[in-house]
Amino acid sequence: MALRTYVQGVFSDSERKSMQAMLARVTEPVSYQAFQHFITHAPWDADRVWRRLRAVIPERRGMLILDGTSFPKQGPESVGVARQYCGALGKIANCQVATTVALWTGVRAWFLGATLYVPDTWLTPERRQLARIPAAVEFQEKWRHALTLLRQVRAAGFALTAVIGDAEFGDVTVLRAVLHRLRLPYALGISSTLTVFLGRPRLVAPVPRGLVSKEYAAKLAKRIQLGRTTPVAQHGTPEDASENVFGQHTTHFATADAEGNWVACTATINTSFGSKVVVPGTGVVLNNQMDDFSIQPGVANAFGLVGAEANAVAPGKRPLSSMSPTIVLKEGRPILSVGAAGGPTIISQTLLAIINVIDFGLPVEAALAQPRFHHQWKPDELKIEKRAGQQVLRELEKRGHKLAPVDSLGAAQAISFDAQAKVFFGAHDPRVEGKAEGF
Ligand code: DON
Repeated sequence: MALRTYVQGVFSDSERKSMQAMLARVTEPVSYQAFQHFITHAPWDADRVWRRLRAVIPERRGMLILDGTSFPKQGPESVGVARQYCGALGKIANCQVATTVALWTGVRAWFLGATLYVPDTWLTPERRQLARIPAAVEFQEKWRHALTLLRQVRAAGFALTAVIGDAEFGDVTVLRAVLHRLRLPYALGISSTLTVFLGRPRLVAPVPRGLVSKEYAAKLAKRIQLGRTTPVAQHGTPEDASENVFGQHTTHFATADAEGNWVACTATINTSFGSKVVVPGTGVVLNNQMDDFSIQPGVANAFGLVGAEANAVAPGKRPLSSMSPTIVLKEGRPILSVGAAGGPTIISQTLLAIINVIDFGLPVEAALAQPRFHHQWKPDELKIEKRAGQQVLRELEKRGHKLAPVDSLGAAQAISFDAQAKVFFGAHDPRVEGKAEGF
């Protein structure tokens, strides 16, 4: 009865929402004492109420509106009251703010949930105790509330056709990335000051190998002329590209879990059916990785790679490999697992994926979908996906590149982790069959 009185009171059109005023206006009042007890001893978690409400909403399909709803307050006593932007007054004022979600059906908006925003000034031990804020309540930004509410709404069976909201939500890259990942169209405002493709800090871990030293890179970079390719005389005449029959003999997978275990694993039997020998009784196909050695200086292997003595066959040696299963760390913790199949193009694919995620801030799925290109010195040609576009291809040709346009280049898989949002994003290469799955 107290709950019914409260709901009637809250939803009445009266401005006066004090307990006495509410009680005076409702049709079936309870005793003031019972009503007061109900309100002052209300449980923190209203999950059951929301679930009940979501179950009875008669319309189940529409756009989800993410919003902030403010409640101006005279005094500072109610939990969450702080000087903050108060939409109801259009200025900074003492108020409570809740993140709210509603279903817009084209005719009306159904209110589906709200979470009180508790500024961290409320989460000191003293204030927690006074206001009986449970220990489990931690500081959460409004966009995190919005994501939790969105998940709850979907779990309750609502079919969301799109998500709309203002810049308070649109400015958050992770939120946009999650909506993208969920394949939910969205129309979110963004602040005019926001750069959508923010660069992320580069990895600065020292790698003690001359090959990747900044000085060496700078020396090589000096040789690049932007208007023209640089001739490399001693590389000689390019070999013809070998026929591309090497589609499906290398597999890469990426795995990560909440415990911080990460895997980047590339496995191969090299060319079609490897050595074409199966160990009797086992079903195991033996590889022909010996082709990754150079059999003679200047003679290309199956992938057109030309090596010399350093990669000659010798006891105890391993053949050179392009396989580059990679785990990228930030402050000592993994943030990206990536790798690919495709012989020498593996290196280019992996690097392109890393650049797209780390430097251009793309979600992994978008990063793997970007057009790819690859050059391996011999043959002297730039393999490039046609989807890069005619204009790019023409400009490259103008600069002296010999192009080998291809429909599709490689197969990469990746997982990234957003440490702030504690969210994994998995992506498989859209060019080939595959699957990204979370459990
Ligand atoms: O280790 C290497 O670089 C090669 N054996 C990889 C071969 C490969 O990726 C073939 N298939 N897609």
